[in-house]
Amino acid sequence: MPAAAQSGAGQPANGQPGGPPTAEHVFKNLKVLKDIPADQLFPSMQFIAASLGVECDFCHVRGHFEQDDKKPKLAAREMMQMMMAINANHFEGHRAVTCNTCHRGALHPVSIPLVVDSEPPMHAATASDPDEPLPAGLPTADQLIDQYVQALGGRGAIEKISSRVEKGSANVGGHDVPVDIFAKAPGKRVAILHAPEGDNVTAFDGEQGWLGAANRPTREMARGDLAGARMDADLQLPVHLKQLSEDLHPGRPEKIGDHDTYQLVAASKTVPPVQLYFDQKTGLLVRMARYSDTALGLNAMRIDYADYRDVDGVKVPFRWTVARPAGQFTIQLADVKQNVPVEDSRFVKPRAPAEMPH
Ligand code: HEC
Ligand code: HEC
Repeated sequence: MPAAAQSGAGQPANGQPGGPPTAEHVFKNLKVLKDIPADQLFPSMQFIAASLGVECDFCHVRGHFEQDDKKPKLAAREMMQMMMAINANHFEGHRAVTCNTCHRGALHPVSIPLVVDSEPPMHAATASDPDEPLPAGLPTADQLIDQYVQALGGRGAIEKISSRVEKGSANVGGHDVPVDIFAKAPGKRVAILHAPEGDNVTAFDGEQGWLGAANRPTREMARGDLAGARMDADLQLPVHLKQLSEDLHPGRPEKIGDHDTYQLVAASKTVPPVQLYFDQKTGLLVRMARYSDTALGLNAMRIDYADYRDVDGVKVPFRWTVARPAGQFTIQLADVKQNVPVEDSRFVKPRAPAEMPH
């Protein structure tokens, strides 16, 4: 159970006056997750849905999330209590067991080991075996970052970028929707997907983030997602990478698609590491994998970058795919403009009557 889940009822989630509210102040019918920070409620629900391989509707009546009229919701509540008890009683309170430990993406956990339909390999040490030592002679973290900066066009060219306006389309479930992205130094970014039902907005203003969608009130970005949003919004991220962590080190090289890559690991004491994969030939970033914490477990996501093109002396990825357990989408840019004026008002959260889901 995370520390935040143990703070007393009615307290701000971080125990400080004026801190973020606890979930019970924002939501109507919580019995187990009352004391978690309110901004973690949705990410925790996404974690559950991914762990069980179901949609929200499996447990909820759309638009009436507080109602308890679906049996799986009641079962899930008991499961949360069970999970917390297992961790408290058997793992010294560490979150060793989560929904996914048993469910692994399925509603019905499999308790009988499967019969194999091929010869089992005799303890083959695979590339994913964490105990296998890293190959010798890998580039250092600093070398990987320096090569990346060079491959993009060099520090000077990167530092000259003060804004970037991108236009393209997002392919979501086989459908293309137009997308507009505005980024402005230092560290502001807003992406607007013009979906048929209305705009879907993800914004970060340098400090806070917010998410807007057509059929629901704007909501705060969960704090667990802010570090990632900060990276996405940083036009000078490549030259800031050395400050990403005090513990930057090479990881295991991996093959990603056609690319042989070197891996750079940015470790952290509080959250799992950010992993960056650079093409061994070009030095360019091919993949970033990162995690955000929720009350029940970690949500994983990764972004694959491709189609780098030169714009004003800097290489910019024109295509990237964002993948999460719930699905993925690809953005393909058609047009990128840099150092054009971008109004600060673009990043400001619209005033909303309430933060509550309806
Ligand atoms: C497997 C069941 C399950 C799934 C799937 C699920 N939830 Fe929940 N949800 C719950 C349970 C259980 C609670 C109540 C937790 C408690 O009592 O502390 C809850 C509470 C909520 C609440 C708080 C409602 C209120 O006002 O009390 C919201 C909002 C919510 N879920 C949204 C979602 C969304 C959005 C999704 C899909 C991403 C989702 N849930 C997926 C089981 C589920
Ligand atoms: C220690 C293993 C374990 C953990 C941890 C666990 N579950 Fe389960 N869960 C089970 C088993 C076993 C069943 C019964 C499955 C069946 O009926 O086939 C089950 C059943 C369920 C069901 C009912 C499925 C149905 O048939 O409708 C829900 C919903 C559920 N779990 C949600 C969760 C959620 C949410 C979490 C995390 C908070 C969680 N579980 C954590 C083992 C686990």
